[in-house]
Parts: sequence; C-alpha cells; structure tokens
Amino acid sequence: MQQSVMPRAAQGVGASRSFCAALAFAAALTLGMSGARAQDEVSPEIENRSDQLDVPYVPSTNAVLDAMFTFAKPTKDDYVMDLGSGDGRIVNYAAANFGASGHGIDLNEGLVKIANDHARSAGIADRAKFYVRDLFREDISRATIITMYLLPEIMLQLRPKLFKDLKPGTRIVSHDYNMGDWRFDATKVVGSRGGGEEDLVYYWKVPAKVAGTWEFKIEYPAYFQGARDYKANINQKWQDMDGALDSGGLPIRIFESKLDGAKISFAATGEIDERLVRHDFAGTVNGNRIEGTVTLSGSVEAKTFPWTATRTKADN
Ligand SMILES: C[S@@+](CC[C@H](N)C(=O)[O-])C[C@H]1O[C@@H](n2cnc3c(N)ncnc32)[C@H](O)[C@@H]1O
Repeated sequence: MQQSVMPRAAQGVGASRSFCAALAFAAALTLGMSGARAQDEVSPEIENRSDQLDVPYVPSTNAVLDAMFTFAKPTKDDYVMDLGSGDGRIVNYAAANFGASGHGIDLNEGLVKIANDHARSAGIADRAKFYVRDLFREDISRATIITMYLLPEIMLQLRPKLFKDLKPGTRIVSHDYNMGDWRFDATKVVGSRGGGEEDLVYYWKVPAKVAGTWEFKIEYPAYFQGARDYKANINQKWQDMDGALDSGGLPIRIFESKLDGAKISFAATGEIDERLVRHDFAGTVNGNRIEGTVTLSGSVEAKTFPWTATRTKADN
C-alpha cells in the first residue's frame, strides 16, 4: 500500500500530537471514570512506530468520536469494528459508553497491546478486543458499525469489500476521508484541532444489493381482472438505483427510487386495463426476496396491497 497522501490531520501532525499530549493529563485523570473517553494521549512508543506504517498512526480526538457515534448511534446490540484501530479508543469508547461489543485490528503490535490494555483497565475486555491483522483480509461481515481513519486511496481500495461483505443497514463512519462516488449520507465538520486544522466525519448506510432481474407478483383489485406478473430490471450504483418494469407492454421507468439499508421504495406509473395507475412500492430486501406493499393511485381510488418480488438474476 502506498502512502501518497497523509491524513488531513497528519498534515499538521506536530500540532495534533501536541494537542494530544496536552490532553494526556486530563485523559489520565478521567481514565476509569469514563473508560475509553480518556485515551487522547500518544505515548512515545506509539510516536516512534508511526513511520513504519502504511497509514500513519494519528489518533482521532474525542470530538471526532462523538461525531462518529452521533451518526452511528451504537447500542448494546451493535458490533463495532475499527479498521486500523490504533490505541483502540474507538471500540473502547463504544464499549464503555454505549455497551456495544466489537473489535479493532491493526498491523502495529504495540498499538494492539495498548488497546487491549486500555480495554482491560476499563473493565470492558470481554466486549472490546484487538488483534494484529490486516484490514484487507478481515472478515467484516459481523459488523453493524464500521469505523475508519485511513488514507483516501485505501478507502477506495476497501470500498468494494465494504459494499459486498457488509449487511444492508450497517453504518459506516470515517474520519476525514470519503469513498468517492459512493455518496456519503451525511457529514459533519468537527471543530478545530488547533493550527486551523479541521476534522470531518462522514457517514454511510450500506444499501441492500438489488441489481438484476426481479419477478413481481401484484394482486390487483377485481376491477383490474386479477393478478399480473411483472419483470423488473434494476441497475444499482452504491445506494442509487434505476430501472424499468415490464408487464408485456412498453417498459415503465421507475422513479423516486430510494435504498435505505434493507428498505427499498420506488414508484412507477403505467396503464392497467386502459387506466393510468401510479404504483408506489415499498418493501424490505432480504437477499433475493422483497416483501412489502404497493399502493395504487391515479385514475383509481388509492389502495394498498401486498407485494412480493423474487430476484431471478443477480447483477451484484
Ligand atoms: C490514522 S490511524 C487511526 C487510528 C484509530 N482508528 C483512530 O481513529 O484513532 C490508522 C491506523 O491504521 C493502521 N493500519 C495501517 N495499515 C493497516 C492495515 N493494512 N491493516 C490494519 N491496520 C492498518 C495503522 O497502524 C494506524 O494505527
């Protein structure tokens, strides 16, 4: 892995380190009271290791952690994974303050040891663990929240794995860098580190994978002469989708489409028995099946019916 760009914060690395050093006393004082909130110090042994790393070690501040978790909203049911976990502050913070479980991975053995030591001394080692492992080889499928503070090109290399391996609805938060045309769902500027350096936090929700051919069955009311079968061809790029329904006539373009984790919704307006009918589909994707409802309106009285769809050919 190349290190062509430093993290935004690392560009002012001297400033951020002294910022962290200044927090060390406060951190030491509060350690034990709020567990992971107290880990803003950078020990000399950590500083000395930074040069050996593909992504340099620069810790996220507590303000960044707060912003990450304001977006990700961890609970005790969440499993948090920090890819490149440094001294473990993110997973430890989620375990200590929200009751979440999780683990962090880092290639730096010294940092992994420090992270596990912090978890032990905060009494959360049963729920927060750290391992010496490469983030590109990690099985991330268990995560419900992914956190990262990496370099832009590493984010782009990791992006297909995040999309493919994470469950729909998994929240991703990243410090400073985004994932290019995988549009973020929200972002926040987090104050200043000193020296005019600002931090950014980005948030995404992993969408369901829906690209391909789907077969729909819609039970129309009796005045439309029963059920009809449709085929739908759906294209998807990250959380954006487009496509058309085919019921034997001209394809009907879908519009107002939205993927929100496992939730899917879109509309399509077409002619049924010589009446123009708008369909509003809304459902939940579970692998190659969708269950939900379709609301008919337009030249008919608005009414909602069950809708199911089965994917017969997957394109992602
Ligand atoms: C900028 S630091 C972020 C630390 C922590 N996530 C935080 O926000 O405080 C990036 C971390 O990624 C680790 N790292 C770099 N390349 C890695 C790789 N291929 N696999 C796992 N960890 C890696 C580094 O050792 C470093 O601790």
